[in-house]
Amino acid sequence: MFTFNSPVKITFGEGCSGRAGQELKDLGARRILVVTGPGSTSRSPALQSITQTLNKESLAWVHFAGAGADPTPAMVDEGAKLFRDERCDAILAFGGGSPMDCAKGIGASIGEGRPISDFVGTGKVFVAQVPPLVAIPTTAGTGSEVTGTAVFTIEADGGKAGAKKIKMGTSGASLFPKVALVDPLLQASMPPALTAATGMDALTHSLECYVGRQHTPMADLYCLESIRLIGRSLGRACQDGQNMEARCDMALAATYGGIALSNASLGMVHGFAHALGALCGMAHGLANAIMLPYVMAGCEQDAAERLALAGAALTGDSSIDAKGTVAAIFSLNRKIGIPAGLAAAGLPESMLNAVYDDARGYKRRPQSPHLFTDDELMSLLHSAWSGTVII
Ligand SMILES: [Fe+2]
Repeated sequence: MFTFNSPVKITFGEGCSGRAGQELKDLGARRILVVTGPGSTSRSPALQSITQTLNKESLAWVHFAGAGADPTPAMVDEGAKLFRDERCDAILAFGGGSPMDCAKGIGASIGEGRPISDFVGTGKVFVAQVPPLVAIPTTAGTGSEVTGTAVFTIEADGGKAGAKKIKMGTSGASLFPKVALVDPLLQASMPPALTAATGMDALTHSLECYVGRQHTPMADLYCLESIRLIGRSLGRACQDGQNMEARCDMALAATYGGIALSNASLGMVHGFAHALGALCGMAHGLANAIMLPYVMAGCEQDAAERLALAGAALTGDSSIDAKGTVAAIFSLNRKIGIPAGLAAAGLPESMLNAVYDDARGYKRRPQSPHLFTDDELMSLLHSAWSGTVII
């Protein structure tokens, strides 16, 4: 028995973000909170074009540019306050995973009538009716535009200097956007390093879900096709960002990865990536990219057949085995400029104990095909730090 749930209306294709105004009008919106990060995206011509589509439909809007990287409940509270003060009735998220997750948090907070800190880390799920959300991703990695999850960074001790941070996932039916506009044209301006890191986040979603213990036949379809598209096009998208065929492949692959992770489970690659992001500020995609081959090497025995099938999708070589798949991931990382290990990415060795401590408590640890012992987790973290290639 399995369930497959993918309730988001998806429009895909070059230029489809021009439908933003029409989609929001169709949802009955009149006054929209536009959520972005504080960086260049918030001043981009692409965002101007999108807000012009709101003007064209006579929709009022207000811009919240406070959805910074790794959003905190405080950022969500600030956005929710603006939503209420401006009497908004719908949300448009524009950017990568952080603004999309922040926008989901704002909607949940408005719907529940309480700050999200009442939910995050408590195991409670968001269930209340929320304002409709239209999500427009500008990276090809997170898949957040089609998921019912959001990740927030919690600062212990009220965020005092030096206080420990942790990343916590939340989920619930009300976190799904109503509409995703997946427009590969918006992703063509990503520089190669961002294309590489976010693309490897997408690969990690699809691969972890495919080999994980909660895999289902329907999620498998999305995983394998996503892996195939990434194998065909991530290198090309990094080499030539204007290659629209490669950008389309990657945009679709990331969306498929999001659908997969809503219907199967991530594993210990994300366990480490969340710890590396919260404690060391390492970008999510980069952390996943570095950890992916090491964690998969640890799963070779328990997921031999699935790793081989995933490797065949990634490389087009149907004779590949699990070990070959791990080698292919190392090779892909090298090709697209991912550092060989955590040390090469700037992580001091002194952080490893704290990263291990956080990662070993990851709630999806039991979904990994191999049930890592604590010692195994420590040893693979040390290998990944030093960049020891395991093949
Ligand atoms: Fe991820």
